[in-house]
Amino acid sequence: MERTFVMVKPDGVQRGLVGDIVSRFERKGFKLVGGKFITISQELAEKHYGEHKDKPFFGELVDFITSGPVFAMVWEGENVISAVRTMMGATNPADAAPGTIRGDYGQTVAMNIVHGSDSKESAAREIKLFFAEDELISYDQTISKWIS
Ligand code: PPS
Repeated sequence: MERTFVMVKPDGVQRGLVGDIVSRFERKGFKLVGGKFITISQELAEKHYGEHKDKPFFGELVDFITSGPVFAMVWEGENVISAVRTMMGATNPADAAPGTIRGDYGQTVAMNIVHGSDSKESAAREIKLFFAEDELISYDQTISKWIS
């Protein structure tokens, strides 16, 4: 089953949008297999966004993502990588469709609420950067063990 890395960025955490964002992916039918609040270090930010290191906005990007806590998650499901990208909407909230996370809540291309891996390779890399193997919990949602 495919997995992807998603994080609510500092603007989304500060605006109290974590619950809404988690709920959207739950209602879509994806499974949350890992989640934690962290304040990203300069080193981790530079690794995570390494592919953008030559972009003019790299410094701004690193400053923003380290400016406050993020809620980092791993979601599991069929085609979850591309589905999450669709549900997030275009990178620039000005271009993001209503009904998407960035279309509904995003303000600027820098403060665009949420990050999601853009490919299988990025997902594997980003999950490993943020989570230890024992922080990812697999469980069966089809068995009603605790509710009748
Ligand atoms: S690119 O150039 O197409 O590869 O970049 P893009 O995929 O559009 O954006 C990559 C991430 O950089 C953020 N971004 C910015 N941050 C600060 N300032 C500016 N001008 C800016 N432009 C893009 C953007 O939010 C993307 O973050 P993630 O977390 O990957 O969504």
